[in-house]
Amino acid sequence: MEQLIDLLTAEMQDAFEAAGYDRSLGRVTLSNRPDLCEYQCNGAMAGARQYHKAPIAIARDVAEKLADRPVFREAAAVLPGFLNLKISESFLTEYLNEMSVSPKFGLKMPEVPLKIIMDYGGANIAKPLHVGHLRSAIIGESLKRIRRYAGHEVIGDVHLGDWGMPMGLVITELKERMPGLVYFDDTYEGEYPAEAPFTISELEEIYPAASARSKTDAEYKTRAMEATFKLQSGVRGYRALWKHIMEVSIADLKKNYSSLNVEFDLWKGESSVHELIPGMVAAMKADGYAYISDGALVVDVKEDTDTKEIPPCMILKSDGASLYNTTDLATIKERMSLYRPDELIYMTDKRQELYFEQVFRCAGFPLRP
Ligand code: ARG
Repeated sequence: MEQLIDLLTAEMQDAFEAAGYDRSLGRVTLSNRPDLCEYQCNGAMAGARQYHKAPIAIARDVAEKLADRPVFREAAAVLPGFLNLKISESFLTEYLNEMSVSPKFGLKMPEVPLKIIMDYGGANIAKPLHVGHLRSAIIGESLKRIRRYAGHEVIGDVHLGDWGMPMGLVITELKERMPGLVYFDDTYEGEYPAEAPFTISELEEIYPAASARSKTDAEYKTRAMEATFKLQSGVRGYRALWKHIMEVSIADLKKNYSSLNVEFDLWKGESSVHELIPGMVAAMKADGYAYISDGALVVDVKEDTDTKEIPPCMILKSDGASLYNTTDLATIKERMSLYRPDELIYMTDKRQELYFEQVFRCAGFPLRP
């Protein structure tokens, strides 16, 4: 169905034309004085200069043409030259009746549906969910459903935080508590057990304990960083342990998201793209896009029009470790090549705004808040 406001505009444009004025002046908008009327048209004000006429004279001419039309119950020309509009009840009833029997209440489907990837939820493996994640999940799920209803193709991805320091912390704490586990035996070559050596409630207690200790114990923190690095570089036992952490956490997350009625098409995350990182980094270095600064590999992303300082986007730390940035850039690359989306939508904490500004600039995409 045509939208109500477009029908009203067409009616108004006819009236402008019938009164001898340019049709394009007849744009109808929602009233900014709902105490006086429902809709309004400011076209007479805009036409005053063009026609060397007082706006109120133009408004009166147009109002006259609308007098016996069934659409408006009242079209009043008021000083200095507005048209205040009230819709007729019979016209509105007819419109609503038609809506009620039309598919999707008459919503027009796009000629070319967009393919959209929505990145929301963003839970972190082994770490507890917080209110920010709840917000992202609920708002993200709503936006996804609205876009689907409007006829677009939307792929929802939870984009788990599953590849960083929290993993190293959990592994370090597990080693501390259960050093005899086969996962820590460098000489072990057999199959690893199918069952995880911990439950979700144990995991929920392990991460906060490890995180707290790393804040006061520098040596422990170093070990956690090393564990993260070993995991990322593919040490067998660490990968196997990480898989258990993933399975146990994801099973629990799925339960929570399903009680919230939130559903993802993709359960990908930071770890899903780690194999793309070396190639991406090499390409960024090769054409000089990324350069070494203070030992780290960075890309300048500031622009002349910036009103605040936008620091360079760091691709690799001086020890060669990848960052949240790096996985997000590789994820953009993967999404573009696997799905060829028209839009990528991210639902994250406001505090990550500058971060995403850097990442999107680095990827060559405009940020539209
Ligand atoms: N895991 C992140 C967090 O807890 C949110 C992930 C948002 N999405 C992204 N592509 N970075 O803050």
